[in-house]
Amino acid sequence: MASSNPGPPLQILVLHGPNLNLLGQREPNVYGSLTLTEINKRIDDQARTLQVKVSCFQSNHEGALVDAIQAAWGEYQGLLINPAAYTHTSVAMRDAIAAVKLPTVEVHLSNIHQREAFRHHSYIAPIAVGQISGFGYYSYILGLQALVQHLRDTASPS
Ligand code: DQA
Repeated sequence: MASSNPGPPLQILVLHGPNLNLLGQREPNVYGSLTLTEINKRIDDQARTLQVKVSCFQSNHEGALVDAIQAAWGEYQGLLINPAAYTHTSVAMRDAIAAVKLPTVEVHLSNIHQREAFRHHSYIAPIAVGQISGFGYYSYILGLQALVQHLRDTASPS
């Protein structure tokens, strides 16, 4: 049954991995023409529609992303992440997500399964709720919707 007091809004951490600061200029035929600032704005608009709070952070550094995941412990209820190239290499990020046990949705702008073989494997996907890949910036919107739906479906009744 729907509660009359929905409580504080869900807090979602949005992480963008390396080279995503270059969106808009970087291979627009693969990643689209929106800048990261424009994508964050669309994520923010969607968050408002869903009545959740998002904080967006980008780094080119694996350790900074690991630190951000660790710091999310107890502060956020879910993680929306485009690990970018670290998808295919980072045991450290996978271990950090597994350690904090935050429900995680992995997103990619491009369809990584249609691309080079080295992009087909993700270290993150096996510990994520799910993966959304290939819808351009809309992968983030779909990912946020899916994550919020998952968190609401699995929330313990208060
Ligand atoms: C990416 C796909 C990765 O393979 C690549 O290294 C990226 C971006 C995507 O969003 O399509 O940097 O995560």
